[in-house]
Amino acid sequence: MTPWFIRSDRLFTADPAQPVLLDGYLEIDGETIAGVWPKDDVAIPADARVHDYTGHLVTPGLIDPHTHLVHAGSRHHELGAKLSGLGYLDLHEKSGILYTVQRTREATYEALYERAKATLARMLSYGVTTVEAKSGYGLDKKTELTCLAVAKELDLHQPIDIESTFMGAHAIPPEFAGDADGYLDFLLDDVLPEVKAKRLARFVDIFCEDTIFSVEQSRRYLQAAKAMGFLLKMHADEIVPLGGAELAAEVGCVSAEHLMAISDQGIADLAAADVVACLLPATTYFLMSSRYAPMQRMLDCGVKVAVATDYNPGSSPTENLPFALGLAVFNMKIAPVDALLGVTRHAAAALARDDIGQLKAGCLADIHVSFAEDPDQYFYRPGSNQTKRVYKRGRLAYKGQAVPVI
Ligand code: NIG
Ligand code: FE
Repeated sequence: MTPWFIRSDRLFTADPAQPVLLDGYLEIDGETIAGVWPKDDVAIPADARVHDYTGHLVTPGLIDPHTHLVHAGSRHHELGAKLSGLGYLDLHEKSGILYTVQRTREATYEALYERAKATLARMLSYGVTTVEAKSGYGLDKKTELTCLAVAKELDLHQPIDIESTFMGAHAIPPEFAGDADGYLDFLLDDVLPEVKAKRLARFVDIFCEDTIFSVEQSRRYLQAAKAMGFLLKMHADEIVPLGGAELAAEVGCVSAEHLMAISDQGIADLAAADVVACLLPATTYFLMSSRYAPMQRMLDCGVKVAVATDYNPGSSPTENLPFALGLAVFNMKIAPVDALLGVTRHAAAALARDDIGQLKAGCLADIHVSFAEDPDQYFYRPGSNQTKRVYKRGRLAYKGQAVPVI
């Protein structure tokens, strides 16, 4: 097939070897980017197609590196309690994760599949081309494996690529009430070997939090999962500063997630161990908290910082990645370029992938074309969808509606 080209005078390549906004061309051959050329240094065959996006910000396809994609039911009934001041861990006692577990256990494979498929279609409309998907609303062997199987089938049957994470250690199910260690043994002995054998997940994650899984339990579980060949992630220092980030560095996690309550030592440890910090500002927003993770401090200390939705029915019921990014800019006061790196190059690092997240020869031709003309304008219309085109593996996957200029 003849290569074809994308032209833009504002290519945000996320490649440190290129200017922030390159005036040039992307050469696309099949599913991959064959070359990235400055405008005056390109040779275009006479018969090659050129899609001209002059005046438009073009970025790598966005990556959402932390979602709880597959589940059933809604938790909007928690809103009144949240408004009356009840905190996340209080709600966990009364409704919370276990409410969603009940709904998910009751749901059919088809219902879980159709719902997640609709969510992915909305994510695509925001320019997202790769998503991480955690299990963790089954908490029994059958439902955990079902949720991972749903993600695996969806990976094949819609445009977005899915990276799966086993998060059976999301909460302690009623069958193991009061016996967190017994539950972790069950996951290690009974469930994880099957997840591995069926290639249902590359990553393992655990909710290390006060009253959920302790630092000691998390250490034992993650070390055992690592020995089985899984890559590691960790929900760490979300509500209570337990030393989760320090543990993520100690056991060699690829990424540590949430980190709203991270300590200075935790930041230094993430930087030294090259653990990606995956921050979830939409969760802070939906928890009605004012404590955002210290993203700028982490960047200043040399930590790679990714940004994600944390899409889930309790603490972040949104699939809108630009909304989460907008919170990073407006509430965490992050420069638009650093926010965009959080959902491109740094999000790829959070998924241990070097073939996505940059517009670079050899990477997948996952490309997001915005109606905005630069990163500042992209963030200057909070709440409105700015996506003009999405290409996934070199094919047009989404076409957006023009945004009125204000
Ligand atoms: O990432 N923190 C733990 N898990 C989810 C919330 C899940 C839920 O409330 O249903 C999170 O915020
Ligand atoms: Fe989460």
